[in-house]
Amino acid sequence: MKDYLPSEHRYDTMPYRRCGRSGLKLPEISLGLWHNFGHVDTFETVKDILHTAFNNGITHFDLANNYGPPPGSAEENFGKILKQSFASHRDELIISSKAGWGMWPGPYGDLGSRKYLMASLDQSLKRMGLDYVDIFYHHRPDPDTPLEESMGTLDQIVKQGKALYVGISSYSAEDTLKASKILKDLGTPCLIHQPRYNMMDRWVENGLLDVLGDEGIGCIPFSPLEQGILTDKYLQGIPEDSRAAKSTGFLQENQVTDAAIAKANKLNAIAKERNQSLAQMAVAWLLKDDRITSVLVGVSSEKQLLENLDALKNKNFSTSELEAIETILKT
Ligand SMILES: NC(=O)c1ccc[n+]([C@@H]2O[C@H](COP(=O)([O-])OP(=O)(O)OC[C@H]3O[C@@H](n4cnc5c(N)ncnc54)[C@H](OP(=O)(O)O)[C@@H]3O)[C@@H](O)[C@H]2O)c1
Repeated sequence: MKDYLPSEHRYDTMPYRRCGRSGLKLPEISLGLWHNFGHVDTFETVKDILHTAFNNGITHFDLANNYGPPPGSAEENFGKILKQSFASHRDELIISSKAGWGMWPGPYGDLGSRKYLMASLDQSLKRMGLDYVDIFYHHRPDPDTPLEESMGTLDQIVKQGKALYVGISSYSAEDTLKASKILKDLGTPCLIHQPRYNMMDRWVENGLLDVLGDEGIGCIPFSPLEQGILTDKYLQGIPEDSRAAKSTGFLQENQVTDAAIAKANKLNAIAKERNQSLAQMAVAWLLKDDRITSVLVGVSSEKQLLENLDALKNKNFSTSELEAIETILKT
């Protein structure tokens, strides 16, 4: 086995943005391990993607208890590679995990109770071979557990030294404001929110981004490429090597609709005029708002990752480009 030596130039080109009003900076592009990093995937590919990411200034890797498949296996693979390749670089990395979706049977393996969040983080730390994660998230709102309980648990996790910062994911604007106030009172401000946000899914523009800006909370959009629809992948149909074609994928064939593909083709024409791929334009489009800290992409190959990183070469949009994009998105 060859030892991995990270590139000496890894910090030469990646810009880093301050996460809300915290002291933490995140790379403009971060890497998520939801799909393509589990035991069903090829370990060498997993390793190559992570090496390429770090070589290019991606310091932030996003995980969750349930990423795989099977659930937990992305954290196991990540832990293995951390030990093999990044052991002496731990202080250069921001590693996040989450709990909130179903992870084990019974009433204590899902949602937002103190019982679940504490146990799940302990399991994640064990799978990754870590003493602490940099960011621990409550993965989704739980309508039944009082916010005080879930947020109180996040605060205690930080006070126990098991996470440096905490975040929330997919919370509404209203609940984000409530959660932020509880966390501030406890002395552990909410670092970051992880919402679904891309050109085709813009719910965050309806209040959430304003709350994040006002409260000084960072924002890291997930599924920025609409799981691949905002790339050239599906422009001519559903290829075999795609998330939509896999039985383990969360993107189902019936979600790759004719209407979405027609929009993607129109957007692709604008991207071409900008000398960008559609994926690159989709990433750059999110970064035009300075409330966005980092764009959290998923990839199945080094090639995709390198393509997406090149989005950073052109982040400027003219007014007429933005108007043309709006016209396509609103039809
Ligand atoms: N907080 C939450 O509830 C939540 C939910 C979902 C995701 N997330 C996080 O967000 C991360 C990203 O989500 P996502 O994977 O849905 O993001 P995404 O970036 O919208 O989609 C990633 C998929 O798009 C395709 N792709 C990416 N770059 C491409 C390129 N240049 N050319 C062609 N195809 C390309 C690949 O599909 P193929 O695999 O088909 O090649 C890749 O797997 C996750 O890994 C996870 O960390 C969080």
